[in-house]
Amino acid sequence: MTIRSKIAGTGSCVPEQVLTNKDLESMIDTSDEWITTRTGIRQRHIAPQGQNNSDLAAEASMAALSMAGVDASELDLIIVGTLTPDMPMPSVACLVQRRLGATNAGAFDVAATCSGFLYSLSIADKFIKEDPSRKILAIGSEVLSRRTNWDDRTTCVLFADGAGAAVVTGSQDESGILSTCLHADGSVWDLLTIRGLGTAYPVDQELLSKGWQYIEMKGKDVFKHAVKALESVAHESMAKAGWSNDDLDLLIAHQANIRILDFLRERLNLPKEKVFINIDKYGNTSAASIPIALDEANRSGKLKKGDNVLLISFGGGFTWAGVTMRW
Ligand code: UT7
Repeated sequence: MTIRSKIAGTGSCVPEQVLTNKDLESMIDTSDEWITTRTGIRQRHIAPQGQNNSDLAAEASMAALSMAGVDASELDLIIVGTLTPDMPMPSVACLVQRRLGATNAGAFDVAATCSGFLYSLSIADKFIKEDPSRKILAIGSEVLSRRTNWDDRTTCVLFADGAGAAVVTGSQDESGILSTCLHADGSVWDLLTIRGLGTAYPVDQELLSKGWQYIEMKGKDVFKHAVKALESVAHESMAKAGWSNDDLDLLIAHQANIRILDFLRERLNLPKEKVFINIDKYGNTSAASIPIALDEANRSGKLKKGDNVLLISFGGGFTWAGVTMRW
């Protein structure tokens, strides 16, 4: 019998504070109309000082564990996809491990930007295939608002905060992950980057005056790469699972721009109801975007047992990834 891993529970958490497009109109030279038509975003959630990545990740994890009926002490591994950790050391995963009391779990972060959750889920899949009795938390969590230049209207209207988590276990039936595809292209890293706060540049007045502590994005170029990579990895993932477009029940793609989601719907020839959209409520939450969407789809009853689900992501690096699963 084929050993598969499956998602046994999902959870998500966003900060309470909502920042609407109208709010942004009073902060920068923008309009609700521009943001809505160019991105599909209507509002986003922003963490106040004192609320950190690991706080959101731990909340999301507790909800996922509760749904899965798994105790934190049963966890073997905690993997967090993120580009905005609380601090360089320790990892967010270790802080989550402490908060959950997951004393039997290993813990590490994965730096794969917006593909962080799918990279984490793919790693979890391999560990479960090695030993199906394992229980693993795969998380995507971000506080992007602290890496956002609030004077830069080309980026600050896009990025936001949140976390999503999934408990991954061995599957006892036909459900579970069927294929995983991971890709990267570091040759165009500078199209989407946070240059500062690593080892490349000293944290000094020059760095701060250049704004290199913040996200920089050449949006139009990223858009072109994103649509090409997402379409390609969607086909690759489905082919590996032995599916045609018609077999797909739900597409959950990284929520970066409604125009990217519309493009994918057209290219994959999918009806509207098969493409999950929540970018209007949350903006672009990078690694958290797919697990938040997955949790919403799960809790709202949009995912039925036996459904064929495709998850695809694209982000800085570049990284892109695809995962197919039977729910
Ligand atoms: O999460 C990782 C993956 N991320 C993505 O895939 C994001 C991909 N890129 C995008 O989603 C889009 O490129 C953006 C939403 C970032 C930008 O949309 P765009 O249609 O590519 O706009 P643009 O950058 O070409 O700007 C068009 C115009 C410019 O004005 P001019 O030069 O035509 O006069 C911008 O200055 O819109 C202007 N603009 C704005 N206007 C009002 C840019 N940002 C804003 C704004 N409000 N916030």
